Amino acid sequence: MTDALLDVYPRGTRRDDDGRLLLGGCDAGGLAREHGTPAYVVVEDDLRAQARAYVSAFRALAPDAHVSFASKAFPCTAILRIAREEGLGCDVASGGELALALNAGFAPADVHLHGNAKSEAELAAAVEHGLRQVVLDGVDDAERLARIAAERGRVQAVAIRVTPDVRGDTHDGISTGQADSKFGLGVDDARSLIDRIGTMPSLRLEGLHFHVGSQLLELDVFRRAVAAVAPLAGAVEELNLGGGLGVAYLRDEVARLPSVEAYAREKVSAVRELVGDRIRIADEPGRSLVGRAGVTLYTVQTVKRNVRTWVGVDGGMADNLRPMLYGARYEAQIVDRFPAGEGPDPGEPCRIVGKHCESSDVVADAVLPDPRPGDVLVTPVTGAYGHAMANVYNGVPRPPVVLVGDGRSRVVVRRERVDELWGRDVG
Ligand SMILES: Cc1ncc(COP(=O)(O)O)c(C=O)c1O
Repeated sequence: MTDALLDVYPRGTRRDDDGRLLLGGCDAGGLAREHGTPAYVVVEDDLRAQARAYVSAFRALAPDAHVSFASKAFPCTAILRIAREEGLGCDVASGGELALALNAGFAPADVHLHGNAKSEAELAAAVEHGLRQVVLDGVDDAERLARIAAERGRVQAVAIRVTPDVRGDTHDGISTGQADSKFGLGVDDARSLIDRIGTMPSLRLEGLHFHVGSQLLELDVFRRAVAAVAPLAGAVEELNLGGGLGVAYLRDEVARLPSVEAYAREKVSAVRELVGDRIRIADEPGRSLVGRAGVTLYTVQTVKRNVRTWVGVDGGMADNLRPMLYGARYEAQIVDRFPAGEGPDPGEPCRIVGKHCESSDVVADAVLPDPRPGDVLVTPVTGAYGHAMANVYNGVPRPPVVLVGDGRSRVVVRRERVDELWGRDVG
C-alpha cells in the first residue's frame, strides 16, 4: 500500500531505506527537531507544480481563462507569493485577506473580493485599491458599493454571485450551491439585480459567479451549475465557476480523485456547450491547490490503553479544526517508522487525539507501530484550511509554517509566542 500512501503526501516525498520520511528532501524528524512541533510543513515543489497544472490546464482549453488562488485556503505571504509567481490571480474574502494579498505583491487588478456580509470599510477598500472585481452577494451589497464608488468618482467592475440550486456530494458545512444557502442570489433574483445594476452608473457588470461547494470528487455538479446560470450569461463577459475540486485525504480516495486536467475539461466544456465561446472563464481553486503540499508534524506526548489505544499529541483541534467541523479523516504515520511495502500498515489501531479540552479533539484513527512518547507523527494533506483556521484554544500558540525544498527548510510564519496570546488583553 506504500505507493498509494505516498500519493497523499506531497509530490517527491520518499521513505528512505531506514524507514524515515523525507519531505522536500528533508528528514521529517530533523524538521521536527529544528523547528519544534506542532509545525505545518509545505513542500514548495508540490505547490508550484499544482499551481502550474491549474494555469496550464485552463489556458490549454481557454487561453484567456483567469485562474485565481482562493487565499482563504492558506493565507500566508510566502504561499501567496508563490501563487502570484506561478501566474495566478487572488480571491480574497475579507479586508484582512485583501491586505495580505497586497502585502504578497498582488496587483489590485489581479484581486477580486468575495463575501456574503461585506462591511462598508471592505467595499471602500476594494474601490480605493481599484480591485479587478467585487463579487456582489446581494442587493444591499450592490447598493452600498454603488454609493461608495460614486462618492469616490469611480466605476467598479462587479460580478453577481448566483446560487445555482445544485448540490454536490460533500459535507453540509461546505456545500454552498443549494437554494437554501446564505451565499448569492437565486437565478430570478440575480436577473433582477442585473437590470438594477444597469441603472447604477458607478458599477460595471462584468461577470457571474458560482461556487457550489468544496471537497467535490465528482465533476458533474459543475455542468448542472453552468446549465442553471446559462440563461443569464448573455448579460456578462465572464463566468467564474468558483473552486471546489477535492483532495484525497486517505489513500483509498486517491483512485477516485479527478485530475486538475479533468476538472478543467469538465468546466470548460460545460461552458462552451451550454453558454458558448464568447464568454471568458474564471476559476478560483483553494483546497486542491495547496492541500497536498502541506503536512503537519506533531510529537507524541502520551500513549494510554483502555478500551482502545489513545495516542496524545502536542496539537489537535487548534491547528486542524476539520475533524471537529466535518468529521474529517486523515492518515497518520510515525515519521521514522514509515510503513513500507504492500499490505496493511503494521502495528495496532490507535486513536490519535489532540491536547485540547474536548472529546471531539481527534486528529486521526491510524494503525501505528509501537507508538511511544517522543515519536514524531505526521498527518498529510493539511495544507488547506489548517493554518487558515488555526486558533489559540487552551492557550496553545499557533504553529509555524515551514517551507521545504531541495533538502532545505525555512520558516515563513514563525511560531506564535505565549506572550502574544494575550497581547491584546488590556486588563
Ligand atoms: C467563493 C469561493 N470560491 C472558492 C473557494 C475555494 O474552494 P475550494 O477550496 O473548494 O477550491 C471557496 C471556498 O470556500 C469559496 O467560498
